[in-house]
Amino acid sequence: MGDKLWGGRFRMKTDLLVNSFNSSIGFDKRLYAQDIAGSIAHCRMLGRCGIISENESVSIIEALGEIKRRMDRRELVPDDDYEDIHSFVEKMLVENVGPAGEKLHTGRSRNDQVALDVRLYVRDAVARIAGLIKEAMKALVIMAEKHIDTIMPGYTHLQRAQPIVLAHHLMAYYEMLKRDRKRFQESLSRINVLPLGSAALAGSTFKLDRDMVAEELGFAGISANSMDAVSDRDFVLEYLFDASLLMMHLSRLSEEIILWNSQEFRFVSISDSFCTGSSIMPQKKNPDVPELIRGKTGRVYGNLMGLLTVMKGLPLAYNKDLQEDKEVLFDTVDTVEMCLEVMKALLGELTFDIERLKNSCSKGFLTATDLAEYLVGRGVTFRQAHEITGRIVLYASDCGKELHELSMEEMKGFSRQIGQDIYPWLTPEGSVSRRTLKGGTAPDTVKEGIARAKEELGLD
Ligand code: ARG
Repeated sequence: MGDKLWGGRFRMKTDLLVNSFNSSIGFDKRLYAQDIAGSIAHCRMLGRCGIISENESVSIIEALGEIKRRMDRRELVPDDDYEDIHSFVEKMLVENVGPAGEKLHTGRSRNDQVALDVRLYVRDAVARIAGLIKEAMKALVIMAEKHIDTIMPGYTHLQRAQPIVLAHHLMAYYEMLKRDRKRFQESLSRINVLPLGSAALAGSTFKLDRDMVAEELGFAGISANSMDAVSDRDFVLEYLFDASLLMMHLSRLSEEIILWNSQEFRFVSISDSFCTGSSIMPQKKNPDVPELIRGKTGRVYGNLMGLLTVMKGLPLAYNKDLQEDKEVLFDTVDTVEMCLEVMKALLGELTFDIERLKNSCSKGFLTATDLAEYLVGRGVTFRQAHEITGRIVLYASDCGKELHELSMEEMKGFSRQIGQDIYPWLTPEGSVSRRTLKGGTAPDTVKEGIARAKEELGLD
C-alpha cells in the first residue's frame, strides 16, 4: 500500500472505499513527466537559493531523472495504491536517495504542484494540436487544388442556391481550421504562467526564486495571486472550449461528407477501406468514420459542460472537486487528436463525382441571381430586377423549363432590357467566373486563396 504524504495527524487508516474513491493515480499517472520536470526545476531552485544544500539538490535531481527514465521505459509503473502521481514520485525519490528526498516538497504544496503539472500538460497538448490542425489544413488545400474548376451547387437551407466551385466549399473549412489553430495558439499566453510558489494557497515563507523556476520551465511569467493560481482552471476550460469549437467544425464537415456520400446526393464516394458494412444488409457500405467524428463532438461538448459545472460553485482556494479537471481534459485531448488524424486521412479517401456535381447545377434555377444582377447592369433597380426574375422563374417552373431553356421572346416578355447576351450569364460556369470579388467563388479568386494558403502552410 502506498504510504500517504499526510499520515501524521490521523489515528485511523483510510477506509478502503475512501481510498479508491479519493485517489487519482489511475488517471493522473499520465502527468508523470510533467510532475518530474516541475520537481527538478523546483529542486534546482531550492539548491540555488540555499534552502537545501547543493549536494542534496544534485542527488535529488539525478534520482528524479532516473525515475523518469525508468517510467519512460515502463520498468517503473505507478502502483494504483498510491494516492496520486505526486505521492508516487516522492515515495520513489525517498526510496532512492533517502532523507534528502524528503526535502523536495519544501515550499510547495500539491495544490500548486498539480496546477503546474496540468499547465505543462496543456501547453504540450496545444503544441501537438496546432501541428495536427495544420496537417488537416494541408489535406484540405491539397484536395481543394484538384477541384478549382469543379462546379457544384452551393446550398442555403439545404436547397440549391447558387453554383460554386468545390474548392471554395473546401476552403471554407480551411478558414475554420485556421481560426481554430490560432485560437489554441493564442491561449498559450494564459497557459504559460507559473503557479509554483503559491504553495497551498497563501504563498510561502521560504525565499523561493519563482522567476528562476519559471525560466527553467519555459514559462513567460509567474502568477500574481497565490489563491487564484491554485484554484484557476480557466486554461483547461479554454482548451476544452477551443476543442469543442474545433470538433463542431469537424462535425459539420463530417455531416457534409455523410450527406454527399448518400444515395440521394452521390456527390462523393468514400473508399472501401474507410467504410464499414452491415451484419444483416449485404449491400450496405456505411460512412462510420465521419459519423463517429460527428458523434464524438458530443462527448467533447459534454467535457466542457462538465468542467464548467464543476467550477461554478467552488469557493477559493483549492477544493478536491478540482481533481475532476483531469479526466475530462485527457479524454478531450485523446478524442480531438484522434479525430483530427482520422479526418485528415479520410479526406484522402474521398472521390468526387465531378460530372454529377456539375449536372446538379442544371436544375433548380441556380443562376436566377445572375439574371437579376444582369438586369441591374441594364439600369433596372435591384428590387425590380428581383421581382422580374422571380416572375420569370415562376413562369419557367410552370412550363417545366430551366432559365437557359427559355427563348429570347419568352424572356423579353418579362423585360425589354434582356438581350441575347443574357445566355452566358445563365450557365453555372458563367455564374462562378463572374464572382471575382475578394472572397468569392470565381475559380481565379479561389486559386489565389489556395496559393496564399499554401504559402501559409509552407507547401510548394
Ligand atoms: N490529485 C489532486 C488533484 O488532482 C492533487 C492535489 C491534491 N491536493 C490536496 N490538497 N488534496 O487535484
